Amino acid sequence: MTNRTFTLTDQDGKSSEFDVLEGTHGPGCIAISDLYAKTGCFTYDPGFGATGSCKSAISFINGEEGILLHRGYPIDQLAEKSSYLEICYLLLNGELPTKPEFAEFDNTIKQHTMVHENIRDFINGFRYDAHPMAMLVGTVGALSSFYHDSIDISNPEHREISAHRLIAKLPTIASYCYKHHRGLPFMYPDNSLGYVENFMQMMFAVPAQDYVQSPTAARALEVMMILHADHEQNASTSTVRLAGSSGANPFASIAAGIASLWGPAHGGANEAVINMLDSIYNSGETIETTIARAKDKNDPFRLMGFGHRVYKNFDPRAKIIAGLCHDLLDELGGDQPMFDLALELEQATLADDYFRERRLYPNVDFYSGIILRALNIPMNMFTVMFAMARTVGWISHWLEMHHDPEFRIGRPRQIYTGHAKRDYPS
Ligand code: ACO
Repeated sequence: MTNRTFTLTDQDGKSSEFDVLEGTHGPGCIAISDLYAKTGCFTYDPGFGATGSCKSAISFINGEEGILLHRGYPIDQLAEKSSYLEICYLLLNGELPTKPEFAEFDNTIKQHTMVHENIRDFINGFRYDAHPMAMLVGTVGALSSFYHDSIDISNPEHREISAHRLIAKLPTIASYCYKHHRGLPFMYPDNSLGYVENFMQMMFAVPAQDYVQSPTAARALEVMMILHADHEQNASTSTVRLAGSSGANPFASIAAGIASLWGPAHGGANEAVINMLDSIYNSGETIETTIARAKDKNDPFRLMGFGHRVYKNFDPRAKIIAGLCHDLLDELGGDQPMFDLALELEQATLADDYFRERRLYPNVDFYSGIILRALNIPMNMFTVMFAMARTVGWISHWLEMHHDPEFRIGRPRQIYTGHAKRDYPS
């Protein structure tokens, strides 16, 4: 994996040599596990901007060129040609399924779409006005109390069945969080439907009348879910790996990932984007004042849906979603003025030196809220939709970690800046 080395020389002229590890794509990584032994120092990298935490074969981002690959396949090809459940198989297993493999996988997932009846009571215990993300993080964590027959993490069959349960049950739980919030009856899954259509049915149907599926809406949601399925070692995925590295069970590890996703700097940004566009549209803010606030270093406000730790060019997912908005808003009856406003804001940032110099472009969350709104998904469910789609990515990383011969508990170091050692007053 390497034929390059890197040499560090300290001020006394003592040199230490380190291997440079190369992956299939991307820059090399200096292997520093023995750095302390060789130099007596640790590394310091707040936010882990220059730190590789693991080897992974699941997804790859080239942030300079705006490329995202899932198991080697470009995201635009997957969004056009694949289905969400096929992506789940691909991420979990490394290869696209044959027809019989897909049929078996589809059937396995369908076996697990229902949840234990007591989970309905569990969700009913939340306050009526609880945020759906608060209910989701609590309920997914609680799954380990309902399915403790499959949480022996040293057993490969248990690991697999937990992965299938999570993928199958997330749409059911997500829809229950919404129904509870609205005071509406929970709908059971219908296994005659596809994965996405089944979620739409549980989310929007009521027992009193038939629910008519819209193939256009289902395909739009399916594409959104494909685009959100995985994304390398982002904050929530790294959280799942770190939580899981201690041997925590898969349900607890994924609950930790959901908690991390909730923040506005990560998956919570899709909700924040719509709030920002709403305030430009309805409450006297203009594009100019919004951009000026985002550039003002004395104002903590940031332009929501812009910028990314890795993409320093267009986020390829944002391009696909913007295309979806162009194609679908008329058909879905979405908020065209809000989309026009988003396009105007994007154009204004492209012409602005602040955003150009810092290479801040729209990310996936900038346009996703507009599509979700057109699908009648309420704003406080946006991050739940992201979590539902990302669950397969999280669990694929959790499984990969458990196969990794170099896997050990994650435990970063620190620079201690507190008091020097001192004695307790006598
Ligand atoms: N608006 C205004 N300025 C910004 C923005 C923004 N959205 N994002 C970054 N900047 C500026 C920073 O102030 C900084 O400026 P400086 O060099 O003058 O100090 C520079 O650009 C670099 O920013 P960092 O904070 O160092 O970038 P980092 O990689 O740490 O943060 C992040 C990335 C969190 C995504 C950031 O761009 C941000 O807060 N964006 C808005 C929230 C958002 O859209 N999050 C969704 C991310 S995608 C996802 O999670 C699915």
